[in-house]
Amino acid sequence: MTQFNEAQLTEAVVASFEHASNPRTKFLLQELVKSLHDYVRKTDLTFDEWAAAIDFLTRTGQKCSDTRQEFILLSDVLGVSMLVDAVNHRERAGATETTVLGPFYVGEHRVMPHGTDISEKLAGEKMFVQARVTDVSGAPLAGAAVDVWHADDEGLYDSQRPGYQSEGPSSRARFMTDSDGRFFFRTVLPRSYPIPTDGPVGAMVLQTRPHAMRPAHVHFLVDAKGHEPLVTHVFISGDDYLDSDVVFGVKDELIAQVERRTDPVMPDGKLATTPWHLMTYDFRMKPGAGVAPKPLGATAAEAAE
Ligand code: BEZ
Ligand code: FE
Repeated sequence: MTQFNEAQLTEAVVASFEHASNPRTKFLLQELVKSLHDYVRKTDLTFDEWAAAIDFLTRTGQKCSDTRQEFILLSDVLGVSMLVDAVNHRERAGATETTVLGPFYVGEHRVMPHGTDISEKLAGEKMFVQARVTDVSGAPLAGAAVDVWHADDEGLYDSQRPGYQSEGPSSRARFMTDSDGRFFFRTVLPRSYPIPTDGPVGAMVLQTRPHAMRPAHVHFLVDAKGHEPLVTHVFISGDDYLDSDVVFGVKDELIAQVERRTDPVMPDGKLATTPWHLMTYDFRMKPGAGVAPKPLGATAAEAAE
């Protein structure tokens, strides 16, 4: 057949992939074509709208660099990142919930001693974080590597600051759990912040939604032997944006009651010179193997290592 009506066109394109040697590739491409064609038919897409979409995707690609991944941001704001996370973590069996890695993870962090102030040079209200890593039965996991990172008091990650390369990391570190699965550190209370809005994805969000904000959170990537790496955040209770996270990453059990304290002594016995906040959270790891995810800016070659 050389001429197709709307339905026959979809069938013909689907059939064109019939000889793909990898069955999964064939399935993914055929389902993509069906969904895309359905979208065009359902919306009666005009030439101008399709040209605008191509232009948007072109600008999204042009905004990408080694340190900036605008397509992942697009996936995040369209809820695709969280949906991929959901279908891959359907059965948690008591393990801590997962959420998006986000674009500000830069790869393995430098190991620091428990109690380190990872935001020593930064302004902001002091926070003490105490946490424990266990298996799903509550048994402690010693020697687990825990990468932590978060935005500062102005809602910016260190890697977004111009002096990042020369000044080195802040508000990010790695801690190794002790024999009881515990680790603790000092930092500042993070703030809610907007996703980057200087590119086409942020512009689209600002034109179509009430805001581009993420509620305040601390990122954790926990890697324990014999367990699936856990990529998650702990959100700070009471934040204005918990119900409207622009990337749909909030889960109820990831919201911690962060207490404001005025005690003169912090949990590790050291003196507090100002009022401070206490974040307490326990992570339960799912049995399994696997490697921790690569940072989002990783090149295809690095990701394939
Ligand atoms: C983040 O939490 O760092 C983040 C996640 C998705 C998009 C932008 C930022
Ligand atoms: Fe974040």
